[in-house]
Amino acid sequence: MKKVVVVTGASSGIGLALCERLLCEDDGLHLCLACRNLGKAEAARVALLSSHPRAEITLIQIDVSNLQSVFQASRELKQRFERLDYLYVNAGIMPNPQLNLKALFSGLFSRKVFHMFSTAEGLLTQDDRVTTDGLQEVFETNVFGHFILLWLFRQKPEFLNPLTKYHSATTGLGNNYVSPQKMDLDEETAEKFYQNLLDLEKRFGAIRAKSLDSGSEK
Ligand SMILES: NC(=O)c1ccc[n+]([C@@H]2O[C@H](COP(=O)([O-])OP(=O)(O)OC[C@H]3O[C@@H](n4cnc5c(N)ncnc54)[C@H](OP(=O)(O)O)[C@@H]3O)[C@@H](O)[C@H]2O)c1
Repeated sequence: MKKVVVVTGASSGIGLALCERLLCEDDGLHLCLACRNLGKAEAARVALLSSHPRAEITLIQIDVSNLQSVFQASRELKQRFERLDYLYVNAGIMPNPQLNLKALFSGLFSRKVFHMFSTAEGLLTQDDRVTTDGLQEVFETNVFGHFILLWLFRQKPEFLNPLTKYHSATTGLGNNYVSPQKMDLDEETAEKFYQNLLDLEKRFGAIRAKSLDSGSEK
């Protein structure tokens, strides 16, 4: 069987561009677009097939901000594929900053007025809703849903270097490359953050165990 590559949030933006690049570089893979909106995922599949007609592309539905959906998608992935070679944790959201009128008026008549206009601190608020799992949506989407997905594939997240981020870059001649850069974070803080993730993961442990059991019934 071909190498199986799963890309979350593959229906648009960087995820879709990544799929295009993967297909250009390796015709020996099976690409699985893991998206929350199957209509958009199908449109992405059609677009990819138009430039790579012989590519093997399947779709899987996943909402990484919903643990039940992550478990369901994991079960489906296990049922459909005998192997999983690469998982690109790309899906993500940014909270929309909005002007906070109340803060603007109270800031105008405070000693912080200069600071407020020079940094926008207090002027803008970012709305982040709470998901059905009781977590902040940005956190669950960008971090925790993917963290659980890694566990479900028996990958230990420890193998990722918590102090490194990877930048996709292009040279003046148009060659693409990846540049690892040290994150502005010390090891102790990274460790604390990781411990918090593990504690949170325990809270959902029972659901996870149940999910894994039903996944192994196939
Ligand atoms: N672009 C940048 O400059 C930049 C900078 C730093 C980090 N990033 C990160 O890079 C990633 C891709 O960015 P982008 O600019 O390509 O963003 P984008 O165009 O908004 O695409 C995000 C993708 O993630 C999917 N997605 C969002 N929430 C999801 C959920 N709960 N479950 C499953 N899929 C979900 C979206 O699906 P729908 O189409 O259904 O919404 C979309 O396919 C994100 O994680 C982003 O935070 C981007």
